[in-house]
Amino acid sequence: MTPKELKIAAAREALGDVRNGMTLGLGTGSTASEFVKLLGAVLTDGTLRDIRCTSTSLATAELARSLNVPVFPLAEIAPLDLAIDGADEIDRDLRLIKGRGGALLREKIVEQQARRFIVIADESKVVDRLGIGPLPVEVTPFAVDVLTRKFAAMNLQPSRRMAGAQPRVTDEGNAILDVMVPASRDIADVVADLRDLAGVIETGFFPREATDAVIAGSGGLRRMRRK
Ligand code: 5RP
Repeated sequence: MTPKELKIAAAREALGDVRNGMTLGLGTGSTASEFVKLLGAVLTDGTLRDIRCTSTSLATAELARSLNVPVFPLAEIAPLDLAIDGADEIDRDLRLIKGRGGALLREKIVEQQARRFIVIADESKVVDRLGIGPLPVEVTPFAVDVLTRKFAAMNLQPSRRMAGAQPRVTDEGNAILDVMVPASRDIADVVADLRDLAGVIETGFFPREATDAVIAGSGGLRRMRRK
């Protein structure tokens, strides 16, 4: 199966947990987009009805509306029955790194409002240790330069997230600094240090938000559940 087929398989499996009348949080990224497309199809053909959604990004809201998936402001429909989103890294304890698509702050806000949060991913996202790739950190624009220096002094190798030639601006109007978690340190300790710094708004470390994961691999689908 191609990576895209694996994403679709995970999304289709998660769609099986959606029931008529539910409130849903829609994630951001290529895997979450496959879920939104499948949801649009079953709402259009009438297999599911009375679903109300909220979005973790402007991009997903636009995609959803284009497929006649109803999107509401978060506060109008929270708490949510279910959130469904992708992830960048998943460890065996269902801790995640998210935000390489730049939506980490809204994702964490929406997913903390959900009774269940199913992560959908292909098996390449499952890691032994979180921090193989960068950890996104959303920072207020006023602090970007001084925090870049501070993160460098903390041995975190910061780099400013770009969108082409321009710095990336999040849906909340902030900047993103991608940092590397040193192999000698646990990500939770690094995140605790980061959160002490004024100007750090949120990190892409999701220690306890996910309740379930659907992982699609060449051998089929498997589910993980929070213990
Ligand atoms: C966006 C995210 C995405 O869920 C994450 O980056 C995974 O994306 P993809 O499904 O495209 O691999 O956290 O902020």
